[in-house]
Amino acid sequence: MPFVEKLVIHGGHPLRGDVQVRGGKNTSLAVLSAALLCDEPVTLENLPDIEDVHVLLELMRRLGARIQRSGRNATIDPRQLTSHRPAPELCRKLRGSYYLLGALLGRVGEGAIPYPGGCEIGARPIDQHIKGFRALGAEVDDRYGMVEARTTGLVGTEVFLDCVTVGGTINVMLAAARAQGNTMIFNAAKEPHVVDTANFLNSMGARVRGAGTDVILIRGTQRLHGCTYTVIPDQIETGTLMIAAAATQGDVTLHGCIPAHMEALSAKLLEMGVRVDEQDDVIRVRSLGGHRAVNIKTQAYPGFPTDLQQPMSALLTTASGTSTVVETIFDKRFKHLDEMLRMGARAHISDRMAVIEGMPGLLGAPVYASDLRAGAALVIAGLMASGDTEIGNPQYIDRGYEKLEERLSALGAQIRRVMMQE
Ligand code: EPU
Repeated sequence: MPFVEKLVIHGGHPLRGDVQVRGGKNTSLAVLSAALLCDEPVTLENLPDIEDVHVLLELMRRLGARIQRSGRNATIDPRQLTSHRPAPELCRKLRGSYYLLGALLGRVGEGAIPYPGGCEIGARPIDQHIKGFRALGAEVDDRYGMVEARTTGLVGTEVFLDCVTVGGTINVMLAAARAQGNTMIFNAAKEPHVVDTANFLNSMGARVRGAGTDVILIRGTQRLHGCTYTVIPDQIETGTLMIAAAATQGDVTLHGCIPAHMEALSAKLLEMGVRVDEQDDVIRVRSLGGHRAVNIKTQAYPGFPTDLQQPMSALLTTASGTSTVVETIFDKRFKHLDEMLRMGARAHISDRMAVIEGMPGLLGAPVYASDLRAGAALVIAGLMASGDTEIGNPQYIDRGYEKLEERLSALGAQIRRVMMQE
């Protein structure tokens, strides 16, 4: 039998101490792609050291961008792009590769990507991205799993998105930044990384207004200049660590985060009986247990983020009472709960709703991560459980969390990565 990597957690140890939050995964994917729009080199700081960032940098290198890395910073020189066709096998590894299409369309007037990969959490169409590119005047061919777009010149326009989409909003914003004239995006997503991408575009001389509201105005510019930009901290990593602190009845102080981005989660943790204190860029989470059940409904920002639904529902399996979790964004985002049934969790899943009956405790068991946030949820389950939990497919976790086991170990968790027989 082949050997595979697994995370093994010996649960029941409270997390205590201080931890630094890393730069945002989804923000970095958007901002890195946006760097291709520039006419000069740009330096990006605070990039997380995660698999999705490594893959995107490699994709950009293969397009001809010169990239110099120095720790968490990267200088990208996109002046001499040699290709407009990102490597399909790498694009399929991450969802964020769709941003290359908007960036290439804006910069060189053509691009071709396969349908992007990413976590299997339900249907993830990109029709709104395509609709936006077409509205800007691009010809888009969407056949055989490839999306090819070209234009002789994008022209600003009005784009009304049929649903609130983070990827669609950012992708249209990228292309529109280099269009002629003004573009208005209606029904835009308001997530922190939409705002961060707009701020980065503006640092290069673009003129984007209204990001963070549901109408974004982009005045196209013909030239973007170099700059140095620091990406914002990861909202979802912050939340995952907050939930882990509560789940282990610990006392953890998170540094370098943005408390305002965490309001939906903080409110739910407070409702459960967890203590959450915020000051400047610091959040302290303390718990003595005795958590109360709560109801969660995922929504676009500033609602409860779908990416924290999975870690949060892991925590709810040990809260006292019955919690309901409604997932409104993706249609298959409860696979972690199926796995947690092996650990003694009581959850009934029907379509987009999970009803969780809180249990006093979970028991360690072998489980498999089906996607990134399912992996994070299982780590939280393992930290709470008595005995050993073996988590298969830790590579999903590596896509979005930088050295998670090292950082949890530094907080007192007993977690290690081992090679085991499948
Ligand atoms: N949608 C469409 N058509 C489109 C685009 C989206 O119908 O053209 C639908 C989707 O099917 C979904 C909803 O709109 O039901 C929202 O999708 P959105 O476009 O906002 O999601 P995404 O861009 O595919 C990003 C993050 C996800 C995060 C969602 C929601 C990246 C690379 N991915 O995905 O992150 O869950 O926004 O906030 O930024 C993760 O980090 O684990 C993750 C999955």
